[in-house]
Amino acid sequence: MSEPRLTRPCVDQLTPYSPGKPIEEVQREFGLTDIVKLASNENPLGPSPKAVEAICRAASEVWLYPDNDCYQLRRALSEKLGFPGEQILLGHGSDGLIHNICLAFVSPGDEVMMSTAPFGQWDFGAKLMEGTPVYVPMVDFRCDTEAMAARVSAKTKVVFIGNPHNPTGAMVTKAELETLLAALTESTILVMDEAYYDYVDDPEYPDSLALVKQGRPVIVLRTFSKSYGLAGLRVGYGVATPELADALGRVREPFDVTSVGQAAALASLHDPAQVERAKALSDESKEAMYVAFERLGLAYTKSYANFVWVDVGRDCREVFQELLKRGVIVRTGDIYGAPTHLRVSTGTREQTEQFVAGLEEVLGSAAS
Ligand SMILES: Cc1ncc(COP(=O)(O)O)c(C=O)c1O
Repeated sequence: MSEPRLTRPCVDQLTPYSPGKPIEEVQREFGLTDIVKLASNENPLGPSPKAVEAICRAASEVWLYPDNDCYQLRRALSEKLGFPGEQILLGHGSDGLIHNICLAFVSPGDEVMMSTAPFGQWDFGAKLMEGTPVYVPMVDFRCDTEAMAARVSAKTKVVFIGNPHNPTGAMVTKAELETLLAALTESTILVMDEAYYDYVDDPEYPDSLALVKQGRPVIVLRTFSKSYGLAGLRVGYGVATPELADALGRVREPFDVTSVGQAAALASLHDPAQVERAKALSDESKEAMYVAFERLGLAYTKSYANFVWVDVGRDCREVFQELLKRGVIVRTGDIYGAPTHLRVSTGTREQTEQFVAGLEEVLGSAAS
């Protein structure tokens, strides 16, 4: 008799999330102490001192369950973003919100559209719900909204756009988004994943909140993980129309935003200067990397986020391994179907210098 099948068939298609290599692992493997991790688009400036104080204050209260409604944080976000509290989304990172979006809206067979080299959680969520991911090829590592528009059908339930897109850092402009919007009907939900929103300052960046205001079926996702430096606390937020927000509230796990996370996020909102400092640091790092890439003759994509996508012109896994030996952890492009690319997060001046020096050495062009 054959073994009974216990897992749902869609689970076979899922691969466990593979995070950036942790610092301690590299320390153990290579016996190094001075490690630079530029692999997970974290913010090396760290959180606001106000957030750290709030975390310490909240620590003694962790025997209590968190406020399930996130009243204070919701109110602060409602004021900041100009939407009623019911339209504010909060979750266990924007990862948690993406999961909830798939839970609430994707039924078996529904098409879930995204660019090639998608952010992993979109693909994961679609497959988990037995939806059909539809990957639309990028052009020059940029989202091709014209091709996406042409691919929209009655089956398209959700379209994910990363703006800026991870792993390439490219931006979808207002005009490009308009092309896509023109093809979408009321039966397709557009998710604007804006995890790197605070790093963008370009007049062509679309105002996605205005789409929600207009009542279009749009969900905007942002996070405290990047510009606010709170990745370890897992607080994502966003905005949606009342109907979509209501559905997301129904599938949400209870207490999915911790009390410490709520306190830290709230305190961070009172320190916008820290976010500006984070952006300035990231811009400086990006500039230094661009200069180095040009010196080394490496092609890169202009990034609107806190990471850079660069073609190192040879097997990215080899370059990754060589950089590890020099204490630098980056992300390889092969997991995104780009075997000669690296994704490198921006860092402090010293971290960026360590990466550039390591890369020059690995590529054997230090003297050029
Ligand atoms: C495009 C994009 N969306 C969402 C996330 C998840 O962020 P969070 O830490 O809020 O779960 C990331 C994290 O890297 C990301 O790059």
